[in-house]
Amino acid sequence: MNRFTGSLLVLVALAVGVYSAAIDGPIDFYKLYDNPEAHISLKSKITTADRTAAHGYPSEHHHIVTEDGYILGVFRIPYSHKLQNQNEKRPIVLLQHGLTSCSDAWILQGPNDGLPYLLADAGFDVWMGNARGTSYSRNHTTLSPDHPNFWKFSWHEIGIYDITAIIDYALSTENGQGQDAIHYVGHSQGTTVFFALMSWIPEYNDKIKTAHMFAPVAIMKNLSSGLVRSVGPYLGHRNTYSVLFGSQEFLPHNEFLMAIFFNICQPDFMLRPVCESAMEKLYAGGRVNMTAMPEGMATHPAGCSTDQMLHYLQEQQSGYFRLFDHGTKKNLEVYGTQEPPEYPVELINSLVHMWYADSDNLAAVEDVEQIAERLPNKVMHRMADTEWNHGDFALNWEVRKYINEPVIDIMMEYELKNIGT
Ligand SMILES: *[C@@H]1O[C@H](CO)[C@@H](O)[C@H](O)[C@H]1NC(C)=O
Ligand SMILES: *[C@@H]1O[C@H](CO)[C@@H](O)[C@H](O)[C@H]1NC(C)=O
Ligand SMILES: *[C@@H]1O[C@H](CO)[C@@H](O)[C@H](O)[C@H]1NC(C)=O
Repeated sequence: MNRFTGSLLVLVALAVGVYSAAIDGPIDFYKLYDNPEAHISLKSKITTADRTAAHGYPSEHHHIVTEDGYILGVFRIPYSHKLQNQNEKRPIVLLQHGLTSCSDAWILQGPNDGLPYLLADAGFDVWMGNARGTSYSRNHTTLSPDHPNFWKFSWHEIGIYDITAIIDYALSTENGQGQDAIHYVGHSQGTTVFFALMSWIPEYNDKIKTAHMFAPVAIMKNLSSGLVRSVGPYLGHRNTYSVLFGSQEFLPHNEFLMAIFFNICQPDFMLRPVCESAMEKLYAGGRVNMTAMPEGMATHPAGCSTDQMLHYLQEQQSGYFRLFDHGTKKNLEVYGTQEPPEYPVELINSLVHMWYADSDNLAAVEDVEQIAERLPNKVMHRMADTEWNHGDFALNWEVRKYINEPVIDIMMEYELKNIGT
């Protein structure tokens, strides 16, 4: 789950706003959509690599093919132009975004605060993944995203196929050769896919130096989000609703919608208060970097399969962290049991740092601690700020001080201790 699930809220708020504006008269939204700036930034299909390059950083766009044929757009800041360290061995870091988000989430706050930039300037080789189905990864060797079969996946497949492919690809590059492990950072769904992969294919733990789970989501029993709790009973079980809702594209990256989002979050736009109040519900109020919001809205939501959402709603309903529930009959075929099996998280023996917070309405403290109890090798970081929420891990204006710098220190310490090994 991710802060930009909140784009949904924005959309609802916006619909209300548009409606009331329509009664009052003269706002022409089609004209607003003609805002030349919105056109320039959207029509030119600016990518994460273009954005990092605009700040002077070396930037690469890779197309990585998974074992099951998905082609992922993955971005890289291979070294720092400030350090000129391109000829040194640089430790590899992979950053993995949350649900309906994409690689742009990491860079919204710019070079002074954004984790990818800070990591590059600390000497790391930085990779930013994009899960199948997001705007940069709507591509496949044989399937078209217009075909329903393209969308038959959940976050299980993102973990098992996408994350393994990206890790192995990064390790196979020139800089990766001679290295056998990486640092991993996941936000929200980026943590779910880590837990799924590392418990299902435990050999991959050997490829992890340190892992950082921001707002970890696995067990969802105590989750407080009203939206999820109210939808869960309907869609979190195998029934007519969930069958109709499942296996299709959810909220595709739509240019018209994006232009509207981009516009309402502009500082001088009349609907800015709508943007602000929607954002305040998702972050610690007033501590979000609103300057980063127009870009955030221009790049999100970045698309996913409805099965990812169904899978989360199943967890919320069952209280277990387990594989996708296909219903009794198909479960027997696929798993050999009526209920889907639980992920054996006890097998995750890599070093896992859990970064979590009291006000996180999608990752409750009780749930994070319950999964952590079963992890053999973890370090707990409960945020001192009791108002810290799910989206603060990316967009709080003090994220550098409270998250990014401590995380980089932990990675640097690991590297210092392991020199020559
Ligand atoms: C799909 O992948 C191919 C092969 O890597 C690449 O050349 C192409 O640009 C990609 N298309 C899109 C829309 O990303
Ligand atoms: C907020 O985001 C903007 C836009 O990326 C950036 O320029 C600024 O440094 C960020 N941080 C703060 C504290 O404003
Ligand atoms: C969390 O879940 C436990 C067990 O289901 C329950 O006893 C407790 O009241 C819940 N706490 C909250 C804050 O929902």
